[in-house]
Amino acid sequence: MLKIAVLVSGGGTNLQAIIDAIDSGKITNTKIELVFSNNKKAYALERAMQHGIPTVSLSRKDYDSVESYDSAMLSEFGKHDLNLIVLAGFLHNLSVEFTEEYKGRIINIHPSLIPSFCGKGFYGLHVHEAALSKGVKVTGATVHFVDAGIDTGRIIKQKAVYVEDGDTPEALQRRVMENAEWIILPEAINDIANGRIKLGE
Ligand code: GRF
Repeated sequence: MLKIAVLVSGGGTNLQAIIDAIDSGKITNTKIELVFSNNKKAYALERAMQHGIPTVSLSRKDYDSVESYDSAMLSEFGKHDLNLIVLAGFLHNLSVEFTEEYKGRIINIHPSLIPSFCGKGFYGLHVHEAALSKGVKVTGATVHFVDAGIDTGRIIKQKAVYVEDGDTPEALQRRVMENAEWIILPEAINDIANGRIKLGE
């Protein structure tokens, strides 16, 4: 059984896609042990509670450094025997201590085809605003392993989505979520849970 923690900061639509995929059997051999957020108001926490999934949220401003915050996160996570950490719209750059502790066992969903429109400052709508201003005809989403960099880890899965005439950043974000993110993140978790993708060291 793959025991996972899902880390969230916002609406939690990617978390919902994972929950729904487990409920429908699209993801097997997997249990969400914990949903963690750095934002106590994240609707993603509500989605977890509606499914009886334990939640913890810690506010970064209650800690005087990223290291002390991440140590608090690690001690929370240490209460569970986690195999995989899933970043699903998690807007906090993890410390080296954290990425070392879970080296090769952290994945992230990014709303572009990495290496385009990724790295510092490219999150949420900013990604789609950049894609539209560049005039790309194809964008999409990427699931990748998380290393000490920002959006720099080994790519696991990608799915392309066409940009349509007149797209606003919001419309493009929605299409990338529906047609890419909510498909490849559950697929990646299922592949890991069933040995088709090996977790690294
Ligand atoms: C979305 O922009 C998504 O592309 C990115 O994080 C944001 C929030 O996603 N991964 P969610 O609805 O909280 O899953």
